[in-house]
Amino acid sequence: MPARVAPSAARVEHSRIREIAHIAMGMPGTLKLYSGESSTPTPEYIRRAAQKAMADGYLFYTENAGLPSLRRCLADSYRKLHGVELDPEREIVVTASGVQALNVAIRCTIDPGDEALVLTPAWPNGAASVALANGVPRMVPHVLAGARYEIDFDALEAALTPRTRLVIYTSPSNPLGWVATGADQDRLLEFARRHELWLLADEVYERLVYREPLGAPAPSILKKATREDAVIVVQSFSKTYCMTGWRVGWLVARRDLAEKAAQLNEFIISHAPSFAQRAAEAALVWGEIELKKMLARYKENRDTCLAMLKKAPGVTVPEPEGAFYLFPRVEGMTDSFAFCRRLLEETSVGLAPGVAFGAGGEGSIRICYAAEREIVKPAMERLVAFLQEPSANCGRR
Ligand SMILES: Cc1ncc(COP(=O)(O)O)c(C=O)c1O
Repeated sequence: MPARVAPSAARVEHSRIREIAHIAMGMPGTLKLYSGESSTPTPEYIRRAAQKAMADGYLFYTENAGLPSLRRCLADSYRKLHGVELDPEREIVVTASGVQALNVAIRCTIDPGDEALVLTPAWPNGAASVALANGVPRMVPHVLAGARYEIDFDALEAALTPRTRLVIYTSPSNPLGWVATGADQDRLLEFARRHELWLLADEVYERLVYREPLGAPAPSILKKATREDAVIVVQSFSKTYCMTGWRVGWLVARRDLAEKAAQLNEFIISHAPSFAQRAAEAALVWGEIELKKMLARYKENRDTCLAMLKKAPGVTVPEPEGAFYLFPRVEGMTDSFAFCRRLLEETSVGLAPGVAFGAGGEGSIRICYAAEREIVKPAMERLVAFLQEPSANCGRR
């Protein structure tokens, strides 16, 4: 048989957000609200910390679990933010991004043929990582109850099979902006304990919450779980500190899993870049003032976009409590990819199609409002005008 790409790899689907990005990249002048990052560059104090780290010789390999000093900073941060005590040596693993934390955590919980329940609409990498581990993702959509998304616990129970090993949820959610309540977390934990499953919480947007006082984090599952629970938290420096290009994240997990994840890092990536880990320490220690300023800007953008969308015909948009996305549902839309493509080609506004986010996503579009006002406002004006054109409907009646 001729050499070929392994069918298990070939089966992993493209990201539909990337498909839009790909078209947009060939179109200069696009107002880009499709990606999951801020247009603000990494703050100067973090860049200076990286330069200093290079001058100080952080140019060599580090531990697979990351620099001990960074893990200690992370443990300090959990104590301060959540009153949670963690063992930095055995319960925290630094990773080369949130994506890599997710990937290694899933690799440690899923054998070929095992199943994972993934709460959707969700950023596609959770389900894709399950598929990469030759597992089977089973999507369970959130349901809209009035103005708020909720977890459908009956659907979760119904989706269980003897092969289920893992539940993945994201709070604050990309793309919904939904934030799990304490009661949601209690029920998820009880569900995972009762069925002896791993519970993986993607808390990458933990610091991007718009309740007062600004800067207070979303509740972490680590506050509810004991250190003996089969719980994993995936985290990242990307969103809180505008460090998407730096590739530094971490995970917190029960000791046996954390130990295995650190060991597997050796064969996947070895570790996150050494000087970037030092810069991440600076972000944790000095980042609060910048973070609060950024939150105030995002909140203003969120409110502007919400007000404009509320005037658009046939649009339902629950108020997001966290992250930096809006996920409006457009009445009658059946092909969000075609909608986003036409919007891009005709108005130069780039949005992400809801279909990219799995079950429950079709019929919506995702708007990332973490850009300058000079981009967000005209983009929203063009979107609202486009929504008013009957020819733009892409399946709308
Ligand atoms: C929900 C969620 N988790 C994890 C990540 C990963 O972030 P990174 O790999 O940049 O750390 C993202 C990025 O968009 C995300 O939206």
